[in-house]
Amino acid sequence: MKQLKLMIISVLLTLTGVTTADSDSVDKRQTIHLDDEERNIVLTEMRTFLSTIQQITQGIVNEDLGKVSSAAKAMGNDASGGVPLSLIFKLPFDFKLLAADTHQKFDQIALDADSLADRDHALEQVAVLMQNCVACHALYRIELEDD
Ligand code: HEC
Repeated sequence: MKQLKLMIISVLLTLTGVTTADSDSVDKRQTIHLDDEERNIVLTEMRTFLSTIQQITQGIVNEDLGKVSSAAKAMGNDASGGVPLSLIFKLPFDFKLLAADTHQKFDQIALDADSLADRDHALEQVAVLMQNCVACHALYRIELEDD
């Protein structure tokens, strides 16, 4: 029964473009198969996430809440446009939820930096936001699809 359930789940995941890791792989994260261009879009956004986190923490250290706000705002919901439809279809639902929540949290950091200008609060928000980075990285990896 348990095996049947697992089979059904993995068939469903395959249909949505996600496969469970090869059984002989030590890497148990789910694999998202993307083409070269789609993979590049995701990884480019990731590197922007990282540099944004750097800028926000730098702003907090420098007591420059304006910098915190502008860096965070640039990674808010407005930044999630321009994603090709093919990519949206290939990304698992939970991945999209986590990504949307992450953009939302950047927007909130920007809003609060403007209205409260509280460094401790901003730092706390960064700590919570980064739980999304950690959670998603524990779940997924990207591989190039065969062409
Ligand atoms: C919705 C899921 C998700 C979220 C949220 C997320 N990431 Fe990622 N990230 C990924 C995946 C998937 C990869 C590719 C991992 C792999 O293939 O091994 C990745 C890769 C990266 C890379 C490597 C980029 C490269 O060029 O190879 C960096 C850096 C990164 N993420 C930073 C971040 C930071 C910082 C955050 C939080 C602000 C974050 N990510 C949030 C899913 C996510």
